[in-house]
Amino acid sequence: MKRILVIVGVLILLFLILPITNLIVGLPETSLVSADTGVPDWNAALKILGRKCVNCHSAEYKLPFYAGIPPAKGMIESDMQTGLRYVDLGAELLPEGGAPVSEVTLAQVERAILDGSMPPNRYLLLHWNGGLSSDEQETVLSFVRKARLEHYATGTASEEFAAEPLQPVPDAIELDKRKVALGDKLFHDQRLSSDDTLSCASCHALDQGGTDQARFSTGVGGKMGDINSPTVFNSGFHFAQFWDGRAKDLEEQADGPVNNPIEMASNWPEVIGKLEQDTEFVAAFTAVYPDGLKKENFLDAIATFERSLITPNSRFDRFLKGDAEAINPTEREGYELFKSFSCANCHVGKGVGGQDFQEMGRADDYFETRGDVIKADQGRFNVTGEEADRHHFKVPTLRNITLTFPYFHDGTVVNLAEAVRTMARVQVGRDISDDEVAKILAFLNTLTGEYRGKLLE
Ligand code: HEC
Ligand code: HEC
Ligand code: HEC
Repeated sequence: MKRILVIVGVLILLFLILPITNLIVGLPETSLVSADTGVPDWNAALKILGRKCVNCHSAEYKLPFYAGIPPAKGMIESDMQTGLRYVDLGAELLPEGGAPVSEVTLAQVERAILDGSMPPNRYLLLHWNGGLSSDEQETVLSFVRKARLEHYATGTASEEFAAEPLQPVPDAIELDKRKVALGDKLFHDQRLSSDDTLSCASCHALDQGGTDQARFSTGVGGKMGDINSPTVFNSGFHFAQFWDGRAKDLEEQADGPVNNPIEMASNWPEVIGKLEQDTEFVAAFTAVYPDGLKKENFLDAIATFERSLITPNSRFDRFLKGDAEAINPTEREGYELFKSFSCANCHVGKGVGGQDFQEMGRADDYFETRGDVIKADQGRFNVTGEEADRHHFKVPTLRNITLTFPYFHDGTVVNLAEAVRTMARVQVGRDISDDEVAKILAFLNTLTGEYRGKLLE
């Protein structure tokens, strides 16, 4: 009996020794705790997150002494590796060059705190002081709201939704109308391709949601691409262009297709040579660009036109702006699910996406299940060569999503319900019921907006 008591006593002691040591030693701090951003709310949030969160979400953190002892070793290492893979808070909460915290990181942190999902429970077992107090939660949430209002809010949402992770598309954007008109012409001009058969609109038809609604696009001479053509609508809101972000803006992007051998298979000198023969065009062009037909001017005109391709006034946007009747209760529930399933962490902002690269298949393998992995599937890795960027893609916009099928960079999914189910499995790592899928679909359906005052269809 006595012996059993002793054993139990020792066991209890062993179980308690780590949390008690952790209580006495205190939580490990990262450099974020003492960072000075010049913004009081931001500093206050960093003080909390830098002590209670960043140690599993940063490359900087040093392991505690007991992390060398199995089984703690395995658990801690795996938590830190996964935590860092999901989000590098050490870097994201204090971006280089004084940039504000990204919309995606703000949404992720807000979600984690609202859900009470972080830190993980197994960590709290050993770190009794590891959780956030309600005051600390409020401090972080208030920082998120203020940062969102200051840097990302469109400013057209009602007071209730002013700091929502999703924002309405602005109703209009100030642009040089003459450049927009010229860019519109160029976008639809087949002389941009080597054999005068393809314009930008061939693969980005404005009456097909800004896409070609095909798995892969067909270029000059019937050449097939190996990646799905994304929509050009609202592309001006994206933080980078292409699935792998290899173009930093629309100007840089527009240089791509003209020269791409499996797209327009031409080059600017050839295009300019053709357009120079067209006196009417030359007159219209030089009226706007006095220095004449130059590649930079073409890129400027096309990019300016693309920035005008916004789709405001969707039913969801009207709801955000205060028209409670604009969406029905099922669609509203779908929006709440979209947030609680953390879809809105990645598909965030006025573009409902386009603000970050994320790993495709971070919670469950995508590519192994699909098979036949090709270079295009490596995503951002093809640009940086960094292992951490393998299979990372720019999060696509979900605006007008019912029109931009088929889905994913590989265009493998035609059915939107299946795309939602795949996302729940490979990105969120949660089972999703048919009822939940139906509600999210109903919500996604409210994201179809208007172009030049007419609802897209
Ligand atoms: C013990 C290590 C650990 C600590 C401490 C920790 N996390 Fe995490 N975090 C993880 C792991 C592991 C994941 C991967 C997802 C999962 O396991 O739920 C993760 C995921 C996340 C994500 C990504 C969620 C998403 O869907 O994109 C965010 C955001 C996050 N944590 C924020 C926090 C915040 C905020 C804190 C502090 C309150 C915190 N974490 C503390 C280990 C940790
Ligand atoms: C043959 C079909 C084809 C033609 C022609 C074409 N594109 Fe694309 N476009 C694509 C494909 C495919 C992608 C995706 C490529 C990638 O991400 O690697 C793309 C990507 C884009 C993107 C990036 C969108 C995003 O979300 O990242 C923009 C913007 C764009 N094209 C505009 C244009 C413009 C402007 C032209 C004319 C100068 C043009 N495209 C001509 C097929 C085409
Ligand atoms: C961790 C970030 C992340 C989360 C969370 C996430 N997505 Fe995605 N989503 C992506 C990325 C990245 C892609 C592009 C993947 C690809 O094409 O390989 C994508 C693609 C999609 C597409 C296809 C879009 C298109 O034009 O091809 C849909 C639809 C979608 N997501 C819906 C959802 C829904 C619904 C949820 C929640 C259940 C969700 N996503 C959660 C990052 C995320």
